Amino acid sequence: MPPSTQSIVLIPGEINLDLILHGFNAFPALGREVLVDECLATLGSASAITAVGLARLGVPVRFVGKIGADVWGDQCLETMRGAGVDSTFVERSVGTRTGVTVAISSTADRALVTYPGAIAELTAADVPSAAWDGAAHLHVSSYYLQEGLRPSVPELFRRARERGMTVSLDPGGDPTGHWRGDVREAVGLTDLFLPNAVELEGIGGDADPVRCLTALEAEGRQVVAKLGARGSLALVNGRPESVPAPAVGVVDTTGAGDSFNAGFLAAWLGRRALVDCIRDGVCCGALATRGLGGTTTQADADELAAFRAACFGGE
Ligand SMILES: Nc1ncnc2c1ncn2[C@@H]1O[C@H](COP(=O)(O)OP(=O)(O)OP(=O)(O)O)[C@@H](O)[C@H]1O
Ligand SMILES: [Mg+2]
Repeated sequence: MPPSTQSIVLIPGEINLDLILHGFNAFPALGREVLVDECLATLGSASAITAVGLARLGVPVRFVGKIGADVWGDQCLETMRGAGVDSTFVERSVGTRTGVTVAISSTADRALVTYPGAIAELTAADVPSAAWDGAAHLHVSSYYLQEGLRPSVPELFRRARERGMTVSLDPGGDPTGHWRGDVREAVGLTDLFLPNAVELEGIGGDADPVRCLTALEAEGRQVVAKLGARGSLALVNGRPESVPAPAVGVVDTTGAGDSFNAGFLAAWLGRRALVDCIRDGVCCGALATRGLGGTTTQADADELAAFRAACFGGE
């Protein structure tokens, strides 16, 4: 059953374009030129990929963000609108260009170079009162990358909680590798915390994932870790529960974690059991790896249901 308009997910987030150069024979080095097999310019950025993933699954999403008044911004906005994301509150920045990430990738791994552009400009002041209307859930991704928003994330989370909304956070990587301690204040205000393996260890401060999950869970908060090709790990009723990643023909893992977020959140907002939410997460993550780019092969609700049944049985 599709969620009602009362269950709008509000995402204040970053939008950038991914330029994916895929299939290198040798990794580039200074002073050398290498050729790649494929190239794609497509919507990138964790927040926007999560938003499109949710919209594809039929969840109403409202996005607040900033992009440049340039063709990259046009392309990003077109993809988001085309998927059904409410982009009324996406502003065009006059002085700054749309951010871009160059991904030099193979099926095994990738190197990323990001020009943040307008990403750093978004602040909590850019989230107008009208953006909160009808919103039931607040999701933030890329805590470390969103420099303008980051200091106000706890304030946004408190505001959401005062309105009776639920809150989720995917921290994303810390480009400085310092895992600033202030993220713990933000984590403390969430209902759901959705790190990957590196983020779990960096923020949890322990090489043992179960100890990190235990340390970060409190006051009813659920932590769900994304472990790439190994699937996902969470504490279910206090016990570690591992859900394997379904096998697919992996082409590019860009946005797998963001698509996991979309699948998990759609099920969680639909009040499904935790293990089912994680299964939807790993299915959506896996399906998103079948093609180049974060959103090009994201599942819709029917495809997810069929794939989930094939992987885990039921329905
Ligand atoms: N090689 C793979 N094969 C199958 N599923 C995968 C693979 N890589 C990722 N996934 C799925 O996607 C989910 C999220 O992936 P991952 O742990 O890489 O997140 P992430 O590092 O946050 O990704 P990103 O931030 O790049 O979107 C995994 O839990 C898994 O279900
Ligand atoms: Mg991620």
